[in-house]
Amino acid sequence: MRRLFPVTDMTAGPAAPTAPAGPARETGPAGGAGAAGDGDWSLDALADAYAYPEGAGPWLRANMVSSLDGAGQHEGRSQPLSSETDMRIFGTLRGLADVIVVGAETVRLEGYRPARVREAFAERRAAAGQGPAPVIAVVTGSLDLDFSLPLFTAPLVPTLVLTGSAAPAGRVRAAREAGAEVLFAGDGTRVDPARALAALTERGLRRQLTEGGPRLLGQFVAAGVLDELCLTISPTMTAGDAQRIAGGPRVAVPTRFQVASVLERDGFLFTRYLRS
Ligand SMILES: NC(=O)c1ccc[n+]([C@@H]2O[C@H](COP(=O)([O-])OP(=O)(O)OC[C@H]3O[C@@H](n4cnc5c(N)ncnc54)[C@H](OP(=O)(O)O)[C@@H]3O)[C@@H](O)[C@H]2O)c1
Repeated sequence: MRRLFPVTDMTAGPAAPTAPAGPARETGPAGGAGAAGDGDWSLDALADAYAYPEGAGPWLRANMVSSLDGAGQHEGRSQPLSSETDMRIFGTLRGLADVIVVGAETVRLEGYRPARVREAFAERRAAAGQGPAPVIAVVTGSLDLDFSLPLFTAPLVPTLVLTGSAAPAGRVRAAREAGAEVLFAGDGTRVDPARALAALTERGLRRQLTEGGPRLLGQFVAAGVLDELCLTISPTMTAGDAQRIAGGPRVAVPTRFQVASVLERDGFLFTRYLRS
C-alpha cells in the first residue's frame, strides 16, 4: 500500500527503503522504515490513518466503493467491485465506529450479519470508551426485514431499527420480539436522516459510519449531514445501468468536498474526502 496524497516519504512505494520482511508482510506508517513499503499496512496503521476527529461532536462518515464508470454495484452487490485491501479498510472503518447506519435494501441484498468483535481493535475501542463492536442501525420504513436472522437475534449489542412513527405496528412488534430496539426518527413511515443521526448521537453513538446504500447515502448528502466520504475507486468498468453510490433527489447546489488522503494498492484508490 502506498500513500499518494498527502505526498510524503511514504509515497515512493517499492523504490523506497523497506523494512525487513515481517509476519504477514505487515508494514505501514506505524512500522518505522517499513512505512515506505508496498506491503499491506497493519490494521493498527490503517486505524491510525482513518481515526475519527477528536472531540465530542457527531461525525458521519460514509464508506462506499465505485467502479471507474461510477457503478456502486454489480449484479446487486458491491463485492465484485471490491478487493482484499478494500475489505481490510472496510473492517477498519467498522472497527473505529460506534454505529453503522445502513439502508434496509442493502441489509436484504447483502445479507448483513452482526458486526464482529475484532481483537485488533479491542484495545483501541476500550481506550475510546467504546463497546467491543459497533451497533448496526437499519433504516427502514416498511420493516420488511427477516427478523429471524442473526443480525436481529444474535448481535453482541442489540441491532437498532430506525423508522418513522407511523411504521406498521405488527412489524415493530416483530422487530422487538426478535431482540432489536426500535427508534422512531420521523413522522409518517419515513425516517428524517438528520433526526436519525441526532437520535444516535443522543445515545452516545457519535462516531457514525454509513455503508449506504445509495438511496440512503443520497439523503444524508441532501440533508447536508455527511462529513466525510471514504470512497474506494475500483479499477473496473461495468457499463450497464447500475446505481451510482448516491441516489435520490439531487441537491440544488453540488456539495463540495476536499481530498484528505489517497492510498493505493493493486490499482485500487482508497480516497478520503471531507466536506469543505
Ligand atoms: N458501492 C457501495 O459501496 C455500496 C454500498 C452499499 C450498498 N450497495 C449496493 O446498493 C444496493 C442497495 O442500495 P439501495 O440504494 O437500493 O438501497 P438502500 O439505501 O440500502 O436501502 C433503501 C431502503 O432503506 C430504507 N430507507 C432509506 N431511506 C429511508 C427513509 N428516509 N425512511 C425510511 N426508510 C428508508 C427503505 O427501506 P424499506 O423498503 O424497508 O422501507 C428503502 O427501501 C445493493 O445493490 C448494494 O449492493 C453498494
